[in-house]
Amino acid sequence: MMRRPITKSFLLVVFSTYLSLMAYGQSNTIELLPNAQETVVSKNIYGHFAEHLGRCIYDGFYVGEKNTTIPHTSGVRNDVVDALKKLKVPNLRWPGGCFADTYHWKDGIGPKDKRPTIVNQWWGGVTEDNSFGTHDFLNMCELIGTEPYLAGNVGSGTVQEFAEWVQYVNHPGVSPMSNLRKSNGREKPWNVSFWGVGNEAWGCGGNMRVEHYANIYRQYATFMSDWSNSSKLFRIASGANEADYHWTEVLMRDIPHHMLDGIALHHYSTVEWNHKGSATAFTEEQYFATMKSAWWMEELVTRHSTIMDKYDPKKKIALVVDEWGGWYNVEDGTNPGFLYQQNTMRDAMIAGMTLNIFNNHAERVRIANLAQTINVLQSVILTKEDKMILTPTYHVMEMYNVHQDAKLVPLVIKSAEYKFNNQSLPAVSASATKDAKGATHISLVNIDSKQSQEITIDLSRNEYKTVSGRILTSAKVQDFNSFEQTDKIKPAAFKDAQLKNGKLQVKLPPFSVVVLELK
Ligand code: AHR
Repeated sequence: MMRRPITKSFLLVVFSTYLSLMAYGQSNTIELLPNAQETVVSKNIYGHFAEHLGRCIYDGFYVGEKNTTIPHTSGVRNDVVDALKKLKVPNLRWPGGCFADTYHWKDGIGPKDKRPTIVNQWWGGVTEDNSFGTHDFLNMCELIGTEPYLAGNVGSGTVQEFAEWVQYVNHPGVSPMSNLRKSNGREKPWNVSFWGVGNEAWGCGGNMRVEHYANIYRQYATFMSDWSNSSKLFRIASGANEADYHWTEVLMRDIPHHMLDGIALHHYSTVEWNHKGSATAFTEEQYFATMKSAWWMEELVTRHSTIMDKYDPKKKIALVVDEWGGWYNVEDGTNPGFLYQQNTMRDAMIAGMTLNIFNNHAERVRIANLAQTINVLQSVILTKEDKMILTPTYHVMEMYNVHQDAKLVPLVIKSAEYKFNNQSLPAVSASATKDAKGATHISLVNIDSKQSQEITIDLSRNEYKTVSGRILTSAKVQDFNSFEQTDKIKPAAFKDAQLKNGKLQVKLPPFSVVVLELK
């Protein structure tokens, strides 16, 4: 065999290639494919969740009509309304969570000084005065410009109570409940479409077996609407806890499909359920574990969808991931039952990668709700008296709202690995959509805490002339916005994307989220 002499120039090429790789991290490729199915990424994937839990409703959304220090509209904070409008919140789930199956909606209507109190048995055992009820929530949704998603009480309520709530909020004509609504000052119905039939029926919603819940669901769904669902309610069954695939199987098998529009799924990203660790002071090991837990969503969605496909190949029934997000220990000195936690770049990683997963599964995942909007778990907003801050998660959701109701552009990604100890995860996640005006948006996340990523994106057609983008990153993955430094983390213009001959060259720094726009 002829040996090639090692020349000086050959050594130079090897050395400069090595240098460029060292200078800009690992290599990745993405190929954009044609969207044969014309799948649309439902805007409802970008939904939020507001439970009567800790300081989410009281002190978060609602400060009361009599408040003289914080600007509000009918007791709802104006700064919060403005921020959520900008976020383009498509739907908002309320009043729980676990609280939903203890809630009696009639306690929250009528004159506020006559409303009975309720003890919040799941969340800190605090007594609340029911001053934020059905009218307050539904009017607030109108103010924000979002669609309400009501979770009804199955665990400790009755079929009649549930059916009457539907009539109270939706009946346009003369009926006992619409008359009551009108006497409470609301003439027109709110026409609520999204209804959750209980919450976590396998746990706080009644500790039921799925076979039992499937029967209960059929009973409740029967009295929510007529036999043909002429009122067009979107009825969502309480779904599986993470990998409980049997739960999804039984619901799909035992509930007649004309009575079922969605099945829920809950999954929280944790370091370890019993050792959640601090929201801000975490090690690389804890960061890696959280990323692994967040990536698990891909497998969960895939496997639950496969079961649904078996019974519903036309994908009529939606997978509704109505609780997701990061869950850590509460901040020092706060009520353990209030689930108040700070929000760092780690949370931005969870948000970016999870939303990419949902976008890519848009055929089946058509509603999702981040837990929870304000002051609870992975919030987009934190409040302290008259101050309000936007978290890194807020910024990711705002950057990603370009995907809402846009057409999915399927992609194939070959990602480098994010390695820690003897484990590895895909470092890069991505999703892409094309909007009604013809612009394509690609969202990219690099979860690697140390390595940068060089990404070559094959655009398949050379139809684009310009690329622009925004990036969210920070000096440390533990960084967060505080009431002292509100804008430490915010999106900035992104300059490291070059378009040439139908290919896009992108350089992503460690733990960053980028959204590109191609025109
Ligand atoms: O989001 C907090 C709680 O987590 C919800 O109330 C419950 O549904 C879930 O277990």
